[in-house]
Amino acid sequence: MSTTPQTIALAGTGDLAKHICTALLASPSFTPIVLSRSSSTQPTPQTTWFSTHQIPIHKTDYSVPSLLDILNTTKATTLISLINDPTPTYTTTHTALLTACQRSTACKRLIPSEYIGDTETHPLKPPFYARSRAPFRHVLRLQTEIEWTLFNVGWLMDYFLPAAKTHMRPAAGVFPIDLGSWTALVRGSGEEVQSWTCGRDVGRAVVALCGAGAGQWESHTYVAAEWSTFNSAIKVLEKHYGRPMAVTYRSWESIQQTLAESEDPEALEVAQIEEMMVMGCLACPREKTLRQREKFFPEVGFLGLEELLAYADGVDFV
Ligand SMILES: NC(=O)c1ccc[n+]([C@@H]2O[C@H](COP(=O)([O-])OP(=O)(O)OC[C@H]3O[C@@H](n4cnc5c(N)ncnc54)[C@H](OP(=O)(O)O)[C@@H]3O)[C@@H](O)[C@H]2O)c1
Repeated sequence: MSTTPQTIALAGTGDLAKHICTALLASPSFTPIVLSRSSSTQPTPQTTWFSTHQIPIHKTDYSVPSLLDILNTTKATTLISLINDPTPTYTTTHTALLTACQRSTACKRLIPSEYIGDTETHPLKPPFYARSRAPFRHVLRLQTEIEWTLFNVGWLMDYFLPAAKTHMRPAAGVFPIDLGSWTALVRGSGEEVQSWTCGRDVGRAVVALCGAGAGQWESHTYVAAEWSTFNSAIKVLEKHYGRPMAVTYRSWESIQQTLAESEDPEALEVAQIEEMMVMGCLACPREKTLRQREKFFPEVGFLGLEELLAYADGVDFV
């Protein structure tokens, strides 16, 4: 007997949203819709992909009445934010998302836009999140009506892939490896533990979370395909492509000097992420992540880096 698929609403039409929509479209249990500041009648390069895949785009100004109307009209049951906003308006927008869920007839689950690393041990890293995400986490904790989880994925492993094989645009200047120039700028010694998961598997994990029974979610959810280091990842890439990579290192002291002395806001934001890489903040906590893999994600089939590179060779798009 077939049942009507649940509507899952995604806020923001960015890169990661496409990977999650792909997984939702592949599931008979769910159907995605997206919320955007743009409408389908005024397509942008970002929204076009969603229209092409027949995913309804609902224009919103992120006011509560506008959000409430969309959630009730579409009968969405879960709202997932992919909004990429590192400024304090993150909290305003997410508070409106939460309020709309509270007032809606059916949307009683919310995943805010986190998707970083170990937010329990390092809740205020990078420091610019202290102005955006941290205040909203406080707002979430003050209520019990809406089920929520802070969903974290470590590094998106797609940055190890050629750009044409993933929706994720290269994180130039931040991710240590630049496949285009075949160079790496490793922060620290390169032996600091990191964790990573590819966008395909993040999408599959979100589908699994949407399928988990009411009351099952935990305050923090982690996925990690593997724990490794940038030195090891470089060796994997060199072996896979059969060519040595030019590698340079930026020391902890050099990063700290930028943090202490730079007056350039962009350089400071990059240095805040660099500091996190050396501190291991992007590595999801192993024990909890593995426990949650058994509980929520036994079917995902997470690809490690070697597997991802081999898989990507055989397909046009991961
Ligand atoms: N762990 C990792 O390695 C990693 C890597 C990349 C991203 N992330 C995280 O994943 C999430 C999604 O990132 P992404 O790369 O997919 O983002 P993205 O492609 O840069 O954009 C996401 C969308 O956010 C919406 N948006 C941006 N600013 C907004 C604002 N002020 N108000 C409302 N909407 C706004 C836009 O949608 P509309 O134009 O349709 O409104 C945009 O397309 C973020 O939390 C990001 O930090 C993590």
